[in-house]
Amino acid sequence: MASSVKAIQIAAPGGPEVMKLVELPLGDPGPGEVRVRHHACGLNYIDVYHRTGLYGLPMPLTLGMEAAGVVEAVGSEVTHLRPGDRCAYASQPPGAYSEARVLPAKCVVRLPDAIDFETGAAMMLKGLTAQYLLKRTLPQGGLQPGDYVLFHAVAGGVGLIAAQWARALGLQLIGTAGTDEKCAIARQHGAAHAINYRSEDFVARVKEITGGKGVKVVYDGVGRDTFERSLDCLRPFGLMASYGNASGPVAPLNIGTLGAKGSLYVTRPTLFTHIATRESTQAMADDLFAVVSSGQVRIPVERRYALADVAQAHRDLEARATVGCSVLLP
Ligand SMILES: NC(=O)c1ccc[n+]([C@@H]2O[C@H](COP(=O)([O-])OP(=O)(O)OC[C@H]3O[C@@H](n4cnc5c(N)ncnc54)[C@H](OP(=O)(O)O)[C@@H]3O)[C@@H](O)[C@H]2O)c1
Repeated sequence: MASSVKAIQIAAPGGPEVMKLVELPLGDPGPGEVRVRHHACGLNYIDVYHRTGLYGLPMPLTLGMEAAGVVEAVGSEVTHLRPGDRCAYASQPPGAYSEARVLPAKCVVRLPDAIDFETGAAMMLKGLTAQYLLKRTLPQGGLQPGDYVLFHAVAGGVGLIAAQWARALGLQLIGTAGTDEKCAIARQHGAAHAINYRSEDFVARVKEITGGKGVKVVYDGVGRDTFERSLDCLRPFGLMASYGNASGPVAPLNIGTLGAKGSLYVTRPTLFTHIATRESTQAMADDLFAVVSSGQVRIPVERRYALADVAQAHRDLEARATVGCSVLLP
């Protein structure tokens, strides 16, 4: 069935204004692929990196990594989905800022009936990230209830999901955020402590909260502005998990620093390694659906934008004006 859909595309990297609403052809799924009609699309900071060219993807590029909707057609070799299934995904390659698309079926999972499309669109990339950080990106010996962890930008999309999930795991999550209001929201979502890192010295506050010991792991999606000082928040043998760069890329690391600061570990994980197979994607999604269905984690969809207003959504995200998750409605 050949038809066309509206989608957001860029011809070259740039500011929010380079995103254009275009008409693209929509084909049938090939082997191992599905066609999904989107009901809602997720907004993620990685979309900004794709738009600005930080991650150097080929152009022209249809943006967007996360959505929920209904399966329209399945290609050969696809056994876990059928036309009519409600579904959601976080995917490589991009293309979710669209009314419908064809993509690899291994990224796509069935969405439980109790989870609405907006929640599904907001929770996959960000929720699966919180999942692999808290469950699979661990310091030596793992994390036990009562342990302190530091989570930067805790009032953001990944952050508010992680704060609630950490509380459910019995962890003492210390969050950072850019305003006192965001700190209050983080506490309401399960952060044991919240530090305004624009007005307070977060290293000193972490030392104070942990009785001078430091945390076992830092989850850092902020990057340039927080990486170096985060190393000073860690206990000996602690883990620095640098998983994003909202403030800019992290400067090259002198590996000797890790010895001097207490035999530290550092990792730079990405979700896409974790969801490389259909099996791992489903296992992680099942874990996420369980905490959401139990009510332990509520997906905070705070803003909705029409797909055509995506430039405003990017401006708000980059201006640090958003809290929790935002969705785009095609
Ligand atoms: N590696 C992975 O697998 C993976 C997967 C998903 C997301 N991520 C990363 O996780 C981070 C959070 O993603 P998200 O989509 O949930 O975004 P988000 O947290 O909703 O938004 C980014 C937040 O970063 C903070 N920030 C600090 N300095 C900033 C600056 N100079 N410019 C803009 N924001 C700044 C802001 O919060 P404050 O105002 O409170 O500082 C802002 O709200 C991003 O770095 C993203 O790339 C990584």
